[in-house]
Amino acid sequence: MKKLLAIVAVLLPVCSWAAKNTVPDIMPIPQKIEMAKGRFKVKGVNVNCDPSLDARTVKLVRQFADRLSLVGGKTVSVASPIGLGRAVGAGTIKGLCFVPDASLPAEGYSIVIGKKAAVVSASDYSGFFYAVQTIKQMLPVSIYGKTQDLKAKWYLPCCEIKDSPRFGYRGLLLDCCRHFFSVEQVKKVLDVMSIYKLNRLHWHLTEDQGWRIEIDKYPKLTEIGAFRNGTMIKREWGSNDGIRHGGFYTKDQIRDVVAYAAERGITIIPEVDMPGHMVAALASYPELGCAGSGPYEVRTYWGVSKQVLNVGKESTMKFLEDVCDEVADLFPGEYFNIGGDECPRDEWKTDPDCQAKIKELGLVSDEKASAEARLQNYVTARMQKFLATKGKKIIGWDEILEGELAPGATVMSWRGTKGGIKAASMGFDVIMSPNTYCYIDHCQSTDLASEPYCISQTPDRAVTLEKLYGYEPYDGFPEDARHHLLGVQVNLWTEFIATPEYLEYMLLPRMIAISEVQWSNPEKKDLGRVKNSLETHEFPILDILGYNYRKLDK
Ligand code: ACM
Repeated sequence: MKKLLAIVAVLLPVCSWAAKNTVPDIMPIPQKIEMAKGRFKVKGVNVNCDPSLDARTVKLVRQFADRLSLVGGKTVSVASPIGLGRAVGAGTIKGLCFVPDASLPAEGYSIVIGKKAAVVSASDYSGFFYAVQTIKQMLPVSIYGKTQDLKAKWYLPCCEIKDSPRFGYRGLLLDCCRHFFSVEQVKKVLDVMSIYKLNRLHWHLTEDQGWRIEIDKYPKLTEIGAFRNGTMIKREWGSNDGIRHGGFYTKDQIRDVVAYAAERGITIIPEVDMPGHMVAALASYPELGCAGSGPYEVRTYWGVSKQVLNVGKESTMKFLEDVCDEVADLFPGEYFNIGGDECPRDEWKTDPDCQAKIKELGLVSDEKASAEARLQNYVTARMQKFLATKGKKIIGWDEILEGELAPGATVMSWRGTKGGIKAASMGFDVIMSPNTYCYIDHCQSTDLASEPYCISQTPDRAVTLEKLYGYEPYDGFPEDARHHLLGVQVNLWTEFIATPEYLEYMLLPRMIAISEVQWSNPEKKDLGRVKNSLETHEFPILDILGYNYRKLDK
């Protein structure tokens, strides 16, 4: 018996070597992954790019090859041999090959790894970008670093992966208004989004507490509106920390960030929140306000302000169009977010311009909506039309559904899921970011005392990793409305998030968990696997890259 055990012990490594590879930790988990036997050596590998690949994709491959050279300690060369596609088809090629395949879906990719050759295919830039992310996740984590790691085993496991996203819209909202974050920090957020295949940054750039984007026609928006005289402390109304806070992005900085995002497969969608959440603009240009409102000051405390734009004045509408004109020119994506949330209409009830506009437009109150709600509909419709002349479609928070909404708008469901379900049933495209699952400014634990101070101060409002990961976006959607669901977004509002370290703590690891809700098939979801992957694989990656994150509960 002892002898038998000794033989088994000797054979075990051989047997496991001969067995199929185990499934690597890849998050979000691919749609299809089949492991085979054997491994492919990447140290010093020859990389081949099909000559038909565009310059962007070749640059991406070169960057990856450079990283492999650096960390693997052996030069990886990149070539573009004529006839690569044919050689791949005939199985006569060696090395790591990148070849286009028009039959693959948008953002999808295929990776086939044999012992001699590994072939990566996609039909677009994003597909190749995501294939590279997946390959990096299969390599030793030191691939994310910038130092040589000669101890690591620079091999890929033989396998076949076919992958594409469940949803085309995989978003994160970053609020740079309640607290301002530097360009470097925004880029750091883009970096981690791209590892986990998120593809939309919803950039919240205007707010009561700060205007963050340079507008040539209205310089006071950043001279005055970008700075506030202190910030309230926790929920102590009337308090002020006495620290002037602010900052803004110049147009050149915005262009730089937009390009940086595009290299990572990310489209940035700007939000100019209107006609509420505009106190910083009102402080800069008080003439945009309603009769009897003001004086204005860039808001130093949180909550919803009753001070809103006077949309009864043509000059205010011209202001909005001018601002959106300049903002739209900076962001090449197809969407523009016009906000529309939390706009109290009290001031409009007594403002002569707003009442005159209501009369002129023939707006009436009925059981469906008040005349003032319909005045907001007018603003939404007018901006929708204006932005269409700039080639943009609008997205707005679910309040834009109140009253009438013109076809073609996309609704972002934040007050739970019902707004999104209703909008989709009415034929509007929707993005789900319900505060019940997707607000990652909420506490990560029901044990509030164990967490840093955050916006949700009751245990039932906590958005734990488990809760967020359990979200199924189609829940409650009628079958015939499902095609309107574009995707899912997590929202990182920053009222109580003042530092980069805390920002990352709230973002991670929840953003990694949501990536599986956004990308993977629900049948593949497995909380145990995700937790294990976080502990053993994702956290080491975050450590190497220098991110702060919340550890898992024991
Ligand atoms: C929101 O959270 N007010 C969209």
